[in-house]
Amino acid sequence: HRADALPRDMEGLRVVVSAGGTREPLDPVRYLGNRSSGKQGYALARTAAQRGARVTLVSAHTLALPDPAAVDVVKVGTTAELRDAVHKAAADADVVVMAAAVADFRPVTRAEFKIKKTDRDPDPIGLTRNPDVLAELVEARRGVPGSTQTIVGFAAETGDSGADVLDHARAKLARKGCDLLVVNAVGEGKAFETEDNAGWVLAADGTEQPIALGSKSAMATEVWDSAMSLRDR
Ligand code: CTP
Ligand code: CA
Repeated sequence: HRADALPRDMEGLRVVVSAGGTREPLDPVRYLGNRSSGKQGYALARTAAQRGARVTLVSAHTLALPDPAAVDVVKVGTTAELRDAVHKAAADADVVVMAAAVADFRPVTRAEFKIKKTDRDPDPIGLTRNPDVLAELVEARRGVPGSTQTIVGFAAETGDSGADVLDHARAKLARKGCDLLVVNAVGEGKAFETEDNAGWVLAADGTEQPIALGSKSAMATEVWDSAMSLRDR
């Protein structure tokens, strides 16, 4: 899609996109993190702006990516920072898309100084759970009668011995309570640190739309098309 070929169907909408991956510091030089590049979230933000939306992009550790044109970019590091920025921007947003890979856990303590190695084995790293920002968004919306906000989650899933990718994704959609869940199948060179994405858009009403392997911009277009058709109903 070229920008000038995109519809201006998101004019007047305020959207929030989170992108990248949060990192939880262990000490001043080390962190727990993940491999999200932020490219999918940036493609979503860029596409929404091109379609006329007012976009806030909450960006966690996406240093290699240039700010998309005409997008308000808020840089964050930890899950706590991402959570604050997302909730602030989401308060008056029409659509919130959580494309960021949010760290599920953080170290219980954060050392003030660099942890030094000694002759002894290191202490184990104690972890505690982070808040689920997506679930909090759904909960916050529940507290606003008549809210028309649309909430979109992302999930990168692998199949395992018990269930396939779609089984996991359907359960996650139900658990999270969001309107759409965009599912990427991971493994075999898909999703992380690549240019292309494939998957499904699952809707809370049971609709399941496959997304063919294509660019992250093409996937962004599919995601916004799904969100806009949901809002038209
Ligand atoms: N998410 C979030 N806050 C968290 C964890 C995840 O907002 N603490 C959001 C992600 O941005 C994504 C969606 O929830 O949009 C699904 O994330 P995922 O990690 O797939 O879900 P989890 O519930 O953490 O399940 P899993 O055990 O598979 O990691
Ligand atoms: Ca997770």
